[in-house]
Amino acid sequence: MKKILPIFLTLLFTMSLVTGCLAAESSEPAFTLTMQIGNPMMTVNGTESEIDPGRGTVPVLQDGRTLVPIRAIIEAMGGSVNWDEETQTALLELGGDIITLTLGSQTAFFNEEAHTLDVAPVSIHDRTMLPIRFIAESFQFDVGWEERTGTVTITKQMDSAPVETPAPTDEPEQGKTLVVYYSATGNTEAVANHIATAANADVFEIQPAEPYTDADLNWTDENSRVVHEYENPEERDVALVSTTVPSWESYDTVFIGYPIWWGIAAWPVDGFVAANDFTGKTVIPFATSASSGLGESGTLLAETAGTGNWTDGMRFRSSASAEDVRAWVDDLGL
Ligand SMILES: Cc1cc2nc3c(=O)[nH]c(=O)nc-3n(C[C@H](O)[C@H](O)[C@H](O)COP(=O)(O)O)c2cc1C
Repeated sequence: MKKILPIFLTLLFTMSLVTGCLAAESSEPAFTLTMQIGNPMMTVNGTESEIDPGRGTVPVLQDGRTLVPIRAIIEAMGGSVNWDEETQTALLELGGDIITLTLGSQTAFFNEEAHTLDVAPVSIHDRTMLPIRFIAESFQFDVGWEERTGTVTITKQMDSAPVETPAPTDEPEQGKTLVVYYSATGNTEAVANHIATAANADVFEIQPAEPYTDADLNWTDENSRVVHEYENPEERDVALVSTTVPSWESYDTVFIGYPIWWGIAAWPVDGFVAANDFTGKTVIPFATSASSGLGESGTLLAETAGTGNWTDGMRFRSSASAEDVRAWVDDLGL
């Protein structure tokens, strides 16, 4: 008996350690999603993916609240999103609960219950940006915020297994086409979207960290931002929200679009072109303008890039139709 007691005690101690470990493990959240202001990627349970696949949209801060394009986030959380174009309302569903948020309205509903938001949903570059804290907390997730890095963390202890995110494949897809564009007033964006449809391509928008307002773009005002930058070329190094295209290596054809400003490419594209390696890629510039041609814009961008096989490209009128664009893309024979 004397010998058995120490063995029993050792066993008891070992078991308590194991149980302790299990208890510690089960206090880890079963679902963790992190994302960062200005970063188009999110991490869901350790797997990185795009927040707005193919669009490069990033979370933004507005009046101290983080606004995000919601679809992929809600789907990762196990819910779904529907958009009612007529009423400009997003319907988010998760576990039988429904949140409705309307563009420009500070009133949101959780099921039948009305809530007043600090910041109304806004549309940024055609994307509806919704307040993530209100949404996640209404659906009973915990939300953390790290000021220093601008990181949002959404966690949940789940009874059932969280929704699986697909494991990344070893071999990235190759031979895809990408349309990169900058557009100040929407004309180039429309052409970019027509190209994407015609060429079955992904889209990446170049966004200045400080977007140009109508007053900024007033080239008839000698005190406007754009005139100041035009007259002082050293001021044209515009900070961008992001120059990183997800899966950049998978694209072998890249269209680059921009408005013509004073006969050359609007300078927000310069920073994107300088920051990326175009080796092995065919690069096709395109522009919209009131009347000027492409001029030297493509050649100057090719010089800035220093890599890539840059082709002649195409200038479109500001209101080019989908048919004009498709005819050109079809002629390229991609
Ligand atoms: C600052 C500025 C400079 C411009 N310079 C020219 C120009 O030199 N030649 C031209 O034909 N159009 C010029 N435009 C007109 C734009 O190129 C044209 O409206 C274009 O379609 C705008 O594209 P976006 O809507 O994508 O910004 C200029 C516009 C702005 C705002």
